[in-house]
Amino acid sequence: MLRVGYPDFIPASYISQLPAGIELIPLSQTIAGEVAIDAWIVAPHLEHTQAVWTHLRGVKLILGMMAGIDWLVPIVGEKITICNARGAHNIATAEWTISAILTVLKYFPFYQQLQQSKQAWKQRFAATKHYQQISGDTQQHFPPMLLEELHGKKVLLVGFGAIGQQIARLLEPFDVQLTRVAHHARQNPTVHPVNELNTLLPEAEILILILPLTAESRHLIGAQQLALLPQGALVVNAARGPIVDTDALVRSLHAGRIRAALDVSDPEPLPEDHPLWDCPNLFLTPHIAAANRQFIPRAIQSISAELSRYVEGKPLENVIQAGVTVSVVR
Ligand SMILES: NC(=O)c1ccc[n+]([C@@H]2O[C@H](COP(=O)([O-])OP(=O)(O)OC[C@H]3O[C@@H](n4cnc5c(N)ncnc54)[C@H](OP(=O)(O)O)[C@@H]3O)[C@@H](O)[C@H]2O)c1
Repeated sequence: MLRVGYPDFIPASYISQLPAGIELIPLSQTIAGEVAIDAWIVAPHLEHTQAVWTHLRGVKLILGMMAGIDWLVPIVGEKITICNARGAHNIATAEWTISAILTVLKYFPFYQQLQQSKQAWKQRFAATKHYQQISGDTQQHFPPMLLEELHGKKVLLVGFGAIGQQIARLLEPFDVQLTRVAHHARQNPTVHPVNELNTLLPEAEILILILPLTAESRHLIGAQQLALLPQGALVVNAARGPIVDTDALVRSLHAGRIRAALDVSDPEPLPEDHPLWDCPNLFLTPHIAAANRQFIPRAIQSISAELSRYVEGKPLENVIQAGVTVSVVR
């Protein structure tokens, strides 16, 4: 019988949804001795994963509960087959992305500060100054520009996988002008290959990054790419911090050239004295985009489907690292 290890803190009600015909082995962070298992459901928890891995023997298949597995590869190596919980975090991460864009375009952090200082009515026209500085539009408008619209904006979406497609669906009612980029080009809808990125950046009023961190995507957005963006462009990173060159981002934010909404940073966690904290035009959350009540049940649902395919000898669908340990890889 297939032996499947899982983090012992996952509630039994979820674990009971895994397919029949497997033996389930709870794995604690204080594990001792050697434990032989065939497949390992990995916690979204670095310390647990590091502590457990050194005790495991015979693992052929790793099933991650997260979408990104970049943090896992340095621990387990490149030979083992790794699947992610594809699809499990689409809704939460896409909702964070749209909310972060609206937060920035509606100047919510500024208005929240005014609310806290009880100055909302008196001081609200200060938002015009912010609008002029970041947009470069110094004309006098009536009414004064106190926020911006998402409707009609030119959005460049880099990463058109499970989450990217959900972001595109949520953007539809805003009638944005959407340009899609992925690793490989395709049609219906048109998806540009990443090697065309630099030619697309000058039009991007909003740049959304939702692609995996790999050797190729590390620093995909560097000083050159940031300089190609139009004045006041918004860079939204819900993917992984190192996809953007942080030093270049800090310089660009301080120069008042662009703005950014980040759920992820490089490094993570961000040290207290890191220059990002003090950057203007930055909205930052601490890697929370998918951390809600649906995380575990949806991840288990995705893993359960993949595990069923494995048990039945069918091709796996969520392989992120095709190692040498499993042959049924699509
Ligand atoms: N902030 C959070 O809490 C959070 C939550 C969930 C996920 N994430 C991050 O989001 C990432 C994407 O998740 P997903 O589920 O959408 O992944 P996915 O379904 O595997 O899709 C990845 C997309 O990125 C594209 N891509 C891969 N390498 C690329 C490159 N070098 N340049 C341009 N595009 C590239 C792929 O292109 P092709 O379509 O051509 O293959 C695909 O469209 C994850 O890897 C994870 O790091 C973050």
